[in-house]
This record gives sequence, structure tokens and C-alpha cells, in this order.
Amino acid sequence: MSINSSLILFLLQFVLDTHGQPHNKQFRDDYTFIKETQSFYKYFSNTKTWHDALTTCAREGATLFYAEDKEEFEAVAKFWTQFGDVIFVGISSFFSKGVFTSYDNKPLTDIYNNWFPGKPDDKNGEGNCVIMSKRGQMEALSCTQRWPFICKKTSTNVVWHHDCETPYDGYVLNKDLGRCYKFFLTPMNWTEAFAVCNAEESYLAIINSKQEANYLKKLTEDAPKDKVRGDYAAGVVMLGFGNRFKQGWLSVKGATIEASGYSHWGYAQPDVDNKDLCGAMFYNGELTYSDCSPRSFFICEKEYTYTRL
Ligand SMILES: *[C@@H]1O[C@H](CO)[C@@H](O)[C@H](O)[C@H]1NC(C)=O
Repeated sequence: MSINSSLILFLLQFVLDTHGQPHNKQFRDDYTFIKETQSFYKYFSNTKTWHDALTTCAREGATLFYAEDKEEFEAVAKFWTQFGDVIFVGISSFFSKGVFTSYDNKPLTDIYNNWFPGKPDDKNGEGNCVIMSKRGQMEALSCTQRWPFICKKTSTNVVWHHDCETPYDGYVLNKDLGRCYKFFLTPMNWTEAFAVCNAEESYLAIINSKQEANYLKKLTEDAPKDKVRGDYAAGVVMLGFGNRFKQGWLSVKGATIEASGYSHWGYAQPDVDNKDLCGAMFYNGELTYSDCSPRSFFICEKEYTYTRL
């Protein structure tokens, strides 16, 4: 082959690689892309109950892995060799005793289905959720046991938002502030809100300037809050600071709020008493706090990096 034709082939290959792919190969750095299944996977060594594993994957915009067929099991087993031996998979008899389905309600006959001899068995009142060993054998046991698990994201389902460099919907870029923001209209308590931002590779918003406070105030004004029903603390939006563990008013990045650049309270700055307190702002951008249990709106924030043209 002449140098010219291999150069052309190389260029063609390059063009196909960058433009000829119908699917996005980009999801998150902590997920591994497996070519055979055109999907991304992440192993969680922190054990969780089955339902918490399901929630953890959902919050990352992914799903609790189960093998759809033998090919997928084999491809994932290769990735999995470096990790622990047993995981929870997305199969349970949660909806109906004795009837095992995937979390998205596929019958066992339509998915990879390889049980320890004599299983599945949930007749003795336990055993509603399914674990799988590295050898691919499955067994049902209590959903409240804690096991590692794998989250999966199919590449066809990834929508990459270039402006905020994220696969998650709803982030709005503010170029002046150099940050992206997302206003959450699903009220949650502070701990949950913290976890939700974290799962989207962002953090509960920290106000660093008057300008940023004004912007968060505007985001809050523009959010269709009136449509939200249910029981929550209206009038406040949770932010990334608090007097957690009685350490004083610190942002989730560890700096005092004064050092962070904005400490304009809606009233005199509260003393640090002997309580766990969580930070928020009134809709007008002034800081406030409450104990950490009420649910309310919140804002996640993400650094904006100029990595693209
Ligand atoms: C926050 O909500 C979660 C889930 O509903 C709950 O488990 C947790 O105890 C709540 N935390 C506080 C401090 O109320």
C-alpha cells in the first residue's frame, strides 16, 4: 500500500471515528466503556441495600446492572475480574412474590438467567433480590443485605451537553461566573440534595459574590416553583454550606462562608449552637438556615472549564 493511500485510509478512519459514530462514547470518567456492549459500567465497592443501589445508579443517570444475555455477562465479567466476587444485580421479585423480573420488568426468560442449582427461591419470606457471582451464577436473598453493585449506562442513551461538559440535563451556563447551575424542583432534605448534586458530579451551590447571589436569586425567580405540590419548606433554596458537626458555618468545600466571599444573612448571623444546621438562602438571595430535615428546593453548581473551542 502506498503512503498516500494509507494516509487517506488513516484520515478516513479519523473522520469516521469523530463524525461517523452515531453514538456518544463519552459519559463519565469513572465509567468504563465496553465495546462489545456499547455501554458504560462502574463498579461500586461500597456495599448498599438493593434499593439504595437502584437509587444510586438512577441518580448517576444510569441503571443497576443485570446481564441481558450471555455475551454481556462475559464482557462485563472481564471488566469485573479486578473487583470483588459478588454483586447485587437489577433483578428482584419485589413486585410479586416468586416472580423474578429485571427492575425494568423483563421476564427472566428474556435475560441472562443462570441460577445456583435449585434457585431462584424466595418461598421462605426472605430472598427477594438477586446477587450474582463472578462465575455468573445468581441467587436470591434479602433486599436489605448489602452488596457491591455495578451501574450501567447504554451509550445510545447518553446526551452530552457540551456547554457544561456534562451528560446531565438542566445545567445552565453562566459565562461571567464561570459556572453551570441547575435548579432542582424536586424538594429534598439537605443530605439527599448533597447526594444528588454529588451523583451528577456537581455540588450544592456556594455563593462566592454578590453577583452570584443575584444570579441564584434570578434562577430561583425563573423556576416554575408554583407548580410543585406536596409538603416542603417554601421560601428557601438549600445551598452548600452549614454548621455540620458543629464546626461553624463552612461551605461544602471546607472554607468559612466569609472566606468564600458572601455572608449576607437575612438577619443577624446565627450563633453556632450545639445543633447540626444546614444552609440555605431565601428566594431573595439572603442566607438563612434550618435544621437539616425539612425538604426544599436546591441548586447544584459545577465548575465550567474552557476545554473546548
Ligand atoms: C433525608 O431524607 C432521607 C430519605 O428520605 C432520610 O433517609 C434521611 O433520614 C433524611 N435526613 C434528615 C436529616 O432528615
